[in-house]
Order: sequence, then structure tokens, then C-alpha cells
Amino acid sequence: MLRFVCWLTLLLKLGLICAYRPVFIYHGILTGADSMQHLVKRIQLLHPDTVVYNFDRFGGWSSLENAWHQVLEANTNLQAVCALHPEGINMIGYSQGGLLGRAVLQTYPDHCVRTFISLSSPQAGQFGDDFLHLIFPSLVAKTAYQLFYSYVGQHTSVGNYWNDPHHQDLFDQFSIFLPYVNNRLYSANSTQFRETMMRLRRLVLIGGPDDGVITPWQSSHFSFYNETNDVVPLQESPIYKEDLIGLKTLHDSGRLDVISREGVHHYQWHRTDHVIDSVIIPYLD
Ligand SMILES: *[C@@H]1O[C@H](CO)[C@@H](O)[C@H](O)[C@H]1NC(C)=O
Ligand SMILES: *[C@@H]1O[C@H](CO)[C@@H](O)[C@H](O)[C@H]1NC(C)=O
Repeated sequence: MLRFVCWLTLLLKLGLICAYRPVFIYHGILTGADSMQHLVKRIQLLHPDTVVYNFDRFGGWSSLENAWHQVLEANTNLQAVCALHPEGINMIGYSQGGLLGRAVLQTYPDHCVRTFISLSSPQAGQFGDDFLHLIFPSLVAKTAYQLFYSYVGQHTSVGNYWNDPHHQDLFDQFSIFLPYVNNRLYSANSTQFRETMMRLRRLVLIGGPDDGVITPWQSSHFSFYNETNDVVPLQESPIYKEDLIGLKTLHDSGRLDVISREGVHHYQWHRTDHVIDSVIIPYLD
């Protein structure tokens, strides 16, 4: 009996049992790892001893760099984490970090992420003045495509996921990022982009109508405007109906959780304890 207890204590000490999986956190645009500290502390309060990797690159203005550049760099960080934790980790991406983080998985065929939590992220792109003015005060959504859908405009992450429902031809022609990671356009990587998503044990999409920045807010659930500015429900969207990146497969196998919360502004998702406690913590095993 004594020996058994000792073994148990040893195992607990080594974290072999009862320990929570490490969490990789990817910050949003124009901020950095610091902005995610509240979430880190809350996770470690409720799940003591959780190892958290709070991605600290591409903070501030460098968060506006080309999306592929950020994704391929972050990929090297995730590879280092997965090498340490082949048993698997969980990942949380906030705002732009949820879109870029998702693309990191898609560029990593044998990634170790089990649960991916997308916290108010523009998964289907962004089209709206409120968001635009945070970064480019003199642009208006209606004409921003003229800048973003150009060689120069594609140097910025925002240009890479700007999705103008009235200029979808130019979106397909110029955007080098979103149409590809969403498999709207076929590429040599399309199969991988889908299979890597289906590796997930769970995909959690969190957003809400009072977000105020992600536009439409349903982009956090992979829904977007059509030409008549109506938001097409996820289950009627091509990305879902045609299972372009495995969302339908994830849903049909009970692995897709689509969550809405009212009354949460964009800057509060990662700082609001009732959100963290009710829709993030329960997914961290
Ligand atoms: C896409 O695939 C090609 C080869 O098939 C590879 O060289 C390239 O790095 C891939 N790009 C991404 C973003 O995964
Ligand atoms: C846009 O979506 C709405 C709602 O799903 C639908 O009623 C409308 O016909 C769609 N418009 C176009 C041009 O597809």
C-alpha cells in the first residue's frame, strides 16, 4: 500500500496523471502576449500547473505583417512545443490569432493540437468600417478593396483576410491567403489544409452579436455576407455544405462546437471571467 501511494505521488509529481495538457495561446492584432495575461492567469488559477505557451512574436505593428509570413514563423514555434508534448496540447487563438493559429495547424500535417478554440476570430474574413478604422482610419470598407486587392495590399494581414462580398472576383484573384486556407480556391495544399483540420479532436468557435469589431460577427463561426449583405448561416455556406475544410465532418462526428455569447465586446472575450470559465476552461483537458 505504501509503495502504491509513493508511486502515485511520484506520478503526480511528474505530471503523468491528473495533469492538464499544455495550452498554446495566440494573441490578436496590434497587441501581443501581454494582452493575454489575464487569460493565462485564469487558466492557471482554475487548472493549476497548466503549462501555458503564450506566443510572444508578431506583437504590436508586426501583427500587420503578411499572414503567411506570420503563420509559417509561428509554425516553427508550435513545432517546438509539439516536440516537447507529443501527447498533445490545446490551443486558443484570439481575434486575428484565431485565424492565423488555425492556418498554423493547416500548415503542420502532424500537429499535436487536440482542441482548438477560436475566440472571436475572423475565420471567414472581415468586411466593415469599425474594424478597418482601428488600423486604417482613412479607409472606408466600400472602397478598401482597391487597396487590399492589389500586390501592395497583400503585404498586410488585414488585406490577406479582407473579404469584400461585392468584389469576390478580385478577392479570388488577389488574396493570397484566405481563399486558400478556407479551400475556396483549390491549391496543391488543399488536401492537407482539410486533413489537418480533421485531425482535431474538437474545434470550438466562439463569438457574439455585441462583438463590435469582427464584421459580420458571424465570421467567428465561419459565416459571411453574400452579395446582398445577408449573412448566410454556416450550414448553408459552401465551406460547410461542401465540407471544404472538414467543418461538416467535425460537426457530424460531434467535434464542432459553435458558441454565441451576448454582451461581450471584442476586447473583453479574453478578459471576461464568465466567458473564460464557461466556454474556455471546460474544453481544456
Ligand atoms: C504548399 O505545398 C507546397 C508543396 O506541395 C509547399 O512547398 C508549400 O510550402 C506549401 N505551402 C503551405 C503554405 O503549406
Ligand atoms: C443571400 O442570403 C440570403 C439569406 O440566406 C438569401 O435570402 C438571399 O437570396 C441571398 N442572396 C444571394 C444573391 O444569394
